[in-house]
Amino acid sequence: MTAMTACEYVPGLENVPAAESSISFVDGQQGRLEYRGIPIEELAKKSTFIETAYLLIWGQLPTSEQLTAFKTEIRYHRRIKYRIRDMMKCFPETGHPMDSLQTSAAALGLFYSRRTLNDSQYIFEAVVRLLAKIPTMVAAFSLMRQGNDSIQPNDDLDYATNFLYMLTERVPDPIAARLFDVCLILHAEHTMNASTFSAMVTSSTMTDPYAVIASAVGTLAGPLHGGANEEVIEMLDTIGSVENVPAYVDDCMAKKKRIMGFGHRVYKVKDPRATILQNLAEKLFDQMGHDSRYDIALELEKVVEERLGHKGIYANVDFYSGLVYRKMGIPTDLFTPIFAIARVAGWLAHWREQINENRIFRPTQIYQGAHNQPYIPIQERSS
Ligand code: COA
Repeated sequence: MTAMTACEYVPGLENVPAAESSISFVDGQQGRLEYRGIPIEELAKKSTFIETAYLLIWGQLPTSEQLTAFKTEIRYHRRIKYRIRDMMKCFPETGHPMDSLQTSAAALGLFYSRRTLNDSQYIFEAVVRLLAKIPTMVAAFSLMRQGNDSIQPNDDLDYATNFLYMLTERVPDPIAARLFDVCLILHAEHTMNASTFSAMVTSSTMTDPYAVIASAVGTLAGPLHGGANEEVIEMLDTIGSVENVPAYVDDCMAKKKRIMGFGHRVYKVKDPRATILQNLAEKLFDQMGHDSRYDIALELEKVVEERLGHKGIYANVDFYSGLVYRKMGIPTDLFTPIFAIARVAGWLAHWREQINENRIFRPTQIYQGAHNQPYIPIQERSS
């Protein structure tokens, strides 16, 4: 491979390819998203999160035997060590669930780290453990911060149903569980974003996969990445009524304020995941009762399209996901950890791709500082 000569600095590496990948594909002009070549609409309709995770990580849809074996292993590994639970009990109740998740994901490495990345059994077990234990850790912290003991996973329940059960202490309605599973499919992977890049940089040092996932969780936690759906709910509550929508949009435009849940670096049309989520939200409201925030959301989408559609500003994935989670009774600060539960599948897929063709990330910089400066003794320095 020939080294490129140093060229122009691109802030945020915008449009600079950081990898060759065959995991997912986005066409932002047409509003298309594919995982391993399969349209997201097909997966949302026909697949489950665990099957989609298998597809992303191992590169093809599993046979029935492979899927059963994968699910069985994941069920078996859902429990977390009592020492990890004890550690989590010491976390402050006021701590953000993403900080809890990052810490507990990293702690898994204390128990399972062997760094034998050329051992396919180790890779398989790491994939299974991370997919299995991350939801348990998210649900455990949610209960512990309320002063309750965590709930053990229930082996009779599938992935999504079990997570909602561990979170709410109730077996959820099957329709809600299916919709939640579809939400996980929609968030499982999205090409080269900040947390995936973070996962790949960490992977490229050939460290253990628990460190890879912990670094990606830390990156996802930032408000510019994972947190927009929390702000959508706050925004809809602030708007308060359908009548207030046009004035709210005018005010944002006058103050050059971003309207949450709209716009995307890649999509210049409506995000295909937003369309699927909107249909899911409607099903959920039919099943569990209407949410007046949805009327505000519909009007907001209409007004934003009218006024900002010419700039390519349309609803993104975060616009309707918060409404779905809220209707399921999920606290707002768990929206990003739920995003992480799903995105673990994509991060692990990129981890495998990276270590199979590894070259450690070592970009360059354009130095802007001084040279040959004198060392001034401390007593002679002034501020
Ligand atoms: N509301 C209002 N105007 C918006 C907007 C929004 N949500 N998103 C972008 N714009 C406008 C910008 O003000 C800019 O207008 P200008 O050309 O008149 O200055 C134009 O659209 C292009 O914006 P730009 O900042 O170049 O877009 P970007 O690709 O860098 O930003 C986001 C992408 C996602 C960061 C941005 O759309 C945003 O902040 N959205 C709200 C947060 C959100 O929903 N994030 C979740 C993303 S999945």
